[in-house]
Amino acid sequence: MTNTDLKAVADGEQIVGLDAKYFIDHDLFKQILEKVIYKNWLLTCHSSQLSKPGDFLTHTVFDQDIVLTCSQGGEIKAFYNVCQHRGHKLVEGSGNKKLLVCPYHRWSYNLQGQLKAAPNSQNVPGFDLSAICLTRIQVENFLGFIFINMDPDCKSMDETYPGIRKEMLKLCPTVERRKYAHHYEADEGCNWLTAVENYNECYHCKTCHGAFAKGIIDPDTYTIAPYGDIKALHHTSRATQSEQAWYDVSGSDYGSFYLWPASSIQFYPGGVVNSFSWRPLAVDDVRVSRTFYSDNGEVDRVLQDVIDNDRGTTFQEDLDIVKQVQRGLQSRGYKPGPLIVDPNGGIDNELPIHKIHQWLKEAVS
Ligand code: FES
Ligand SMILES: [Fe+2]
Repeated sequence: MTNTDLKAVADGEQIVGLDAKYFIDHDLFKQILEKVIYKNWLLTCHSSQLSKPGDFLTHTVFDQDIVLTCSQGGEIKAFYNVCQHRGHKLVEGSGNKKLLVCPYHRWSYNLQGQLKAAPNSQNVPGFDLSAICLTRIQVENFLGFIFINMDPDCKSMDETYPGIRKEMLKLCPTVERRKYAHHYEADEGCNWLTAVENYNECYHCKTCHGAFAKGIIDPDTYTIAPYGDIKALHHTSRATQSEQAWYDVSGSDYGSFYLWPASSIQFYPGGVVNSFSWRPLAVDDVRVSRTFYSDNGEVDRVLQDVIDNDRGTTFQEDLDIVKQVQRGLQSRGYKPGPLIVDPNGGIDNELPIHKIHQWLKEAVS
């Protein structure tokens, strides 16, 4: 908590939730896309999904189609998935190819994004294949997680989130050896911020997530706190001590790093690595991706049970909540209430929500 926040709370000043317009207003949503979503690092996929030269996969963030490739030299690249001829979408889905060929007039690009062939271009005086390239997007392999940033002038991941790499390695020294194992998605029927807020407070956990509160974490030790003064939130908890643990949780505690604005890498106790990413679809809809990782890319029985338990309880419970909240935010009767900002931290604390609101207002003010 900053000194200003602390003073405000100590003075009895109430910290109030965000005005509903940030969740429902179309013009504001467009501004937030431009100033937040298209300007920050976003988790897209895992390096193990792009391990061989020629591997590619596609990704979409609202109205921006993206293609990620593994080039002939084994380097991961990201481009806008749009042909530089007349704008057709270049490729669909995922796979392995030597050339990315546009289905409209068959312009072909290599995995470095360079145009290699354009039918009949040899008869166009001055046509220079080498001058045409797909438009690049900043991309980083961060401990195996592939992040993109559509801001060409962005700072690196380590500059944006200093300290996080070290923290993740402390929690899971073998994280870089993990491979993509499984993922599923859902459209949550709410603004992306509604979903992100819900993820970043556990004030509702004891009420709404009984299975998680017994099976994974120890609620008496759960805290979500700003990580230094960077735009990240650190969730920590001792592993559950309950007999209702979902699996053998010994070995390491629970930790999660929410990286503003729309990604989180989460370590369940015992080294079960998983992640969240949220991609806005509309002012009142967001697609959440849940991905799980394992040492060999396989889903063994234990991991399958974790995935099934998680999806059937915490994930589904949150889906139901956020849809309800989005509807409530449109109510003519809703006035944002005070947040439960507890200077002592703990599980029943909404300080992280206040931080997210500050970051948002800073970006769109
Ligand atoms: S738009 Fe792609 S080849 Fe014409
Ligand atoms: Fe939740």
